[in-house]
Amino acid sequence: MRVLLTGGSGFIGSHIALLLLERGFDVLILDSFVNSSTNVINRIKSYLNNKDLKYKLETINCDIRDKKLLDKVFNDSIKEKKPIDIVIHLAGLKSVSESLINPLHYWDVNVIGTLNLLLTMKEYECYSLVFSSSATIYGLSDSVPMTEDQKISPINPYGKTKVAIENMFSDLYHSSMNLWKICSLRYFNPVGAHPSGVIGEDPIGIPNNLFPFLTQVAIGRRKHLQIFGDDWETKDGSGIRDYIHIIDLAEGHLSSIDYLNSNDSCLEFINLGSGIGYSVFQIISQFELSTGCKIPYSIQRRRDGDVPICYADISKAKKLLDWSPMRSLEQICLDGWNWQMKNPKGYS
Ligand code: NAD
Ligand code: UFG
Repeated sequence: MRVLLTGGSGFIGSHIALLLLERGFDVLILDSFVNSSTNVINRIKSYLNNKDLKYKLETINCDIRDKKLLDKVFNDSIKEKKPIDIVIHLAGLKSVSESLINPLHYWDVNVIGTLNLLLTMKEYECYSLVFSSSATIYGLSDSVPMTEDQKISPINPYGKTKVAIENMFSDLYHSSMNLWKICSLRYFNPVGAHPSGVIGEDPIGIPNNLFPFLTQVAIGRRKHLQIFGDDWETKDGSGIRDYIHIIDLAEGHLSSIDYLNSNDSCLEFINLGSGIGYSVFQIISQFELSTGCKIPYSIQRRRDGDVPICYADISKAKKLLDWSPMRSLEQICLDGWNWQMKNPKGYS
């Protein structure tokens, strides 16, 4: 089965790619490398070579907004008699703060990019899609854990682009219900790394997210962690999130492929998280306990676009996808730290 994996060189995409290749899928990674390194691809290849695994991997440098090149990708695949069976679409921009500063760029890349992709898939009769949506679409919800059917009210442009994309899926699905098979996976906070330490999270520039910032403090690349608010309405005043091991998240995509393959047509919105909420202080304590590193921190004012608490109800994923997260917060800390220790400067 041939999978087109957009954004396959990024943090989440690289882990999905590795799992797909290990399980015998033919993978075509499409990425513009605007936020990732081409070294990722070499790492994946050398990991598989070292394990003596035969694999089918191709990479194309392409911006998803480039319709002509997208056409060529689908067309060439058909000509070569290995048409794309399914698309896993992760290419996009994900920084909440950046989206507040430059919203149009986010609408362009995330929404126009996805529209281009859907148009091309339709033209080439490829109707199966797994999409990387986000828990950020729930915004300031009055009830936790978040369930898929609760109110959607994003409080930042990034989240609004994900909602627009989900709305596009609904319109498309309802216009031709017997054709499309779509799983829109609402990720919570994917963290950690592949246990080998061969691939992991390596954001370009200063990390926006808690976990990569924390491991970069631990390795000495940054002086101290800034905690964005200790005055939230939570048990210890810091923000609460649902941290899920990146391999658990990646496995959710394989389960989604199985789900799509066993259904004639569908559109499902599904939370992928651990189902547990941890505060920033709890994350620091667990990381210190698991790794023996001391994390210096300071308390800063709340970050714009943040919510106090966000964690998932994952019963739908368990029921529909027959999937459950298997890895603990301790495993997350150990694997994330292993990656950072083996790659103090990331991929560079
Ligand atoms: P990432 O930045 O590491 O990966 C995204 C990849 O997309 C990068 O390799 C980047 O080069 C590529 N890309 C960006 N714009 C592109 C374009 N126009 N054309 C082609 N490629 C392009 O991010 P990630 O953490 O791996 O996230 C992947 C997806 O999951 C994103 O869509 C993100 O919104 C979503 N998501 C991530 C999180 C998270 O916490 N990491 C949470 C919820 C949802
Ligand atoms: N935080 C800090 N210091 C930091 C970074 C973060 O205190 O240096 C805090 C935040 O205020 C928040 C928590 O740590 O309380 C988690 O913040 P992240 O930036 O790691 O994650 P977010 O939940 O804000 O956002 C992430 C992704 C989004 C995605 C969302 C889904 O960045 O793309 O998870 O839940 F949509």
